[in-house]
Amino acid sequence: MEITVEKSKEELSRLIADEIISLVKTKPSCVLGLATGSSPILVYKYLIEAYKAKKVSFKHVKTFNLDEYINYKEYKDSYHYFMDHNLFDYIDLERNNIHFPNPEKPEEYDKDILKAGIDLQLLGIGADGHIGFNEPNTSFDSITNITTLTKQTIKDNARFFKSIEDVPTHAVTMGLKTILSAKEIILIATGSNKKDAISKLLKGEDISCPASILNRHSNVTLYLDNEAAKDIHQNNN
Ligand code: GLP
Repeated sequence: MEITVEKSKEELSRLIADEIISLVKTKPSCVLGLATGSSPILVYKYLIEAYKAKKVSFKHVKTFNLDEYINYKEYKDSYHYFMDHNLFDYIDLERNNIHFPNPEKPEEYDKDILKAGIDLQLLGIGADGHIGFNEPNTSFDSITNITTLTKQTIKDNARFFKSIEDVPTHAVTMGLKTILSAKEIILIATGSNKKDAISKLLKGEDISCPASILNRHSNVTLYLDNEAAKDIHQNNN
């Protein structure tokens, strides 16, 4: 596993955006796995800037988002909306090439993903080590499924909603096995509330830390700021 540590989220996001842009340039019809949450927002901003500066086109790119809430109150609370407003509305991605898991038939998503083959999967990480919405103790063999959010995740994600009561309790998410099918995986984590999850991830496979499944993959890079990376030296010594 590669680890890149930078001082700021801006620097990390710039590096990740550059990597995505270089992939899209060498393979214009590449397949990207995308994440929501605050971690990737700047990456998306830099992709939009590059598109506006005519440095890259997403015309032939396909995307598969990691997850979506179920029974959200308003469209504004959905990850569809989040992606539209942080990326999709501002670049030339074709609407037909955008994919989200369908809670009515989650397993179909895995078939679609295996057929398309994700070239690069972008991930954030929850404070409890979740990736997508795969909460602690999810089977490492899971495929796209419907999941119940933990109290901690509901609390952590409440900042995106009017009140904590509005946070949906369920979501549909790519499974851990689905995520691992990507050819390359990039995980971004910033801030001290992520340091325990990162430290646990690096201690080896442990189903209480879903992100630790990444130890099984041969092409993973963690992009961390100093705060998220604070405890990793202790592990590596
Ligand atoms: C949500 C998403 C995850 C994301 C996590 C961390 O739970 N389902 O994909 O990684 O939040 O979010 P943030 O980047 O806002 O800390």
